[in-house]
Amino acid sequence: MFKLNNEIFEKRREIFLNKLDGKAAIIPAASLVKHHADCEYPFRQDSNFWYLTGFDEPDAIALFLSHKPKGERFILFVSPKDVISEVWHGFRWGIEGAEKEFKADKAHSINDIKDLLPVYIEGSDEIVFSIGKYPRIEKAVLEIFTQQLENRSRLGIGANSIQSPEIYLNHMRLIKSEFEINRMREAIQISAEAHELVRKSISVKNNERQIQGLIEGFFLEKGARGPAYNSIIASGDNACILHYTSNNSPLSKKDLLLVDAGCSLTDYYNGDITRTIPIGGKFSKEQKIIYEIVLDAQKNAINSAVTGSNSTTVHNVALKILVEGLKEIGLLRGSTDEIIDNGLYKHLYMHRTGHWLGLDVHDVGAYRMGDYEVQLQNGMILTVEPGIYISDRIPVPDGQPSIDEKWKGIGIRIEDDILVKDKEPENLSIAALKEIADLEF
Ligand code: GLY
Ligand code: MN
Ligand code: MN
Repeated sequence: MFKLNNEIFEKRREIFLNKLDGKAAIIPAASLVKHHADCEYPFRQDSNFWYLTGFDEPDAIALFLSHKPKGERFILFVSPKDVISEVWHGFRWGIEGAEKEFKADKAHSINDIKDLLPVYIEGSDEIVFSIGKYPRIEKAVLEIFTQQLENRSRLGIGANSIQSPEIYLNHMRLIKSEFEINRMREAIQISAEAHELVRKSISVKNNERQIQGLIEGFFLEKGARGPAYNSIIASGDNACILHYTSNNSPLSKKDLLLVDAGCSLTDYYNGDITRTIPIGGKFSKEQKIIYEIVLDAQKNAINSAVTGSNSTTVHNVALKILVEGLKEIGLLRGSTDEIIDNGLYKHLYMHRTGHWLGLDVHDVGAYRMGDYEVQLQNGMILTVEPGIYISDRIPVPDGQPSIDEKWKGIGIRIEDDILVKDKEPENLSIAALKEIADLEF
């Protein structure tokens, strides 16, 4: 279970403040989002705000003032204690709690932000703030910035640009600490066990929605916050819709079931796993052929996720095996290089092979910078998730074979969560079985 560990957050703040080197960062919390009349979506904290504060309330704002002396650098603006509001909406830490429990150097009511923000920002070299993401405070930040520009021309001090915090935080978040790796292990283990539960009970289920209930109920039972993203429970041809979330079709024993689901822990670390299993316990001949191609592509791509490699190499390893497999069964034609260079496979495989995974499911961090490929290194976590989706939704490219009916309605993806290590990559989702022999019954 999650317990706030202040040392972890203090260490992150120290690194962030060192990187800021004279700049002042304004990092807002998320706000509640309306679902419909008087009802909101479950609260989801802003990942950067969480990463630096561990404070899980809406509407707060954190300041990181690297131009100030130690002991005056971490300021929290929070919702003040309010009995009536707390009776309606729940406990708040308030100003005192923000200082005592969350180690703010100083905390204030969020109602004072507009008056105090200019005072705190004064003297910083630059302002660090994500423009376009936080409308509730953006106008005030821009006004302060304009004022500072005027001061700068008169007095020679004050911020003269606004930078994005992503420059500093993305790389920090991309490389997971030992603490984060352990949290990711927990999120991914719960997610993998949920997939195992589906595999073991598929024979008695008859609708996608029941599978969703099973898997998400398991997340909650294990103490997770809930699903990390909208679970994809896609049987038969539904699996050819990449972000299928209707999850309400009856299950047919002759079909495959693609389940793409992972949990989010209380502290927002996420799993993201896909398994594709035969609903009736046996793969058909065609389903098995496609599954074997995808599994082969996935295993080889995982093996290529070593230190010094990069995400494009991992993608290309998977892509080559998918294309060659599809050529062998007559669903693609021509030289492998030509098919890949011209994207002639994209009616059957239309996404990349993976993404960073962490506090965001599609986590922050560059994959490449222009021509430079970001190298994989110890502590990065990425998904490896090739697939093949056979339907007639996307027209077959000119010169490529038309698709025989027997293949249509097969959608297969296999997705694991991989920790890059100095020696071999570690598959963190290994507990969710994926060999054909394990899936058939
Ligand atoms: N479930 C989202 C993804 O696999 O990227
Ligand atoms: Mn994924
Ligand atoms: Mn996924």
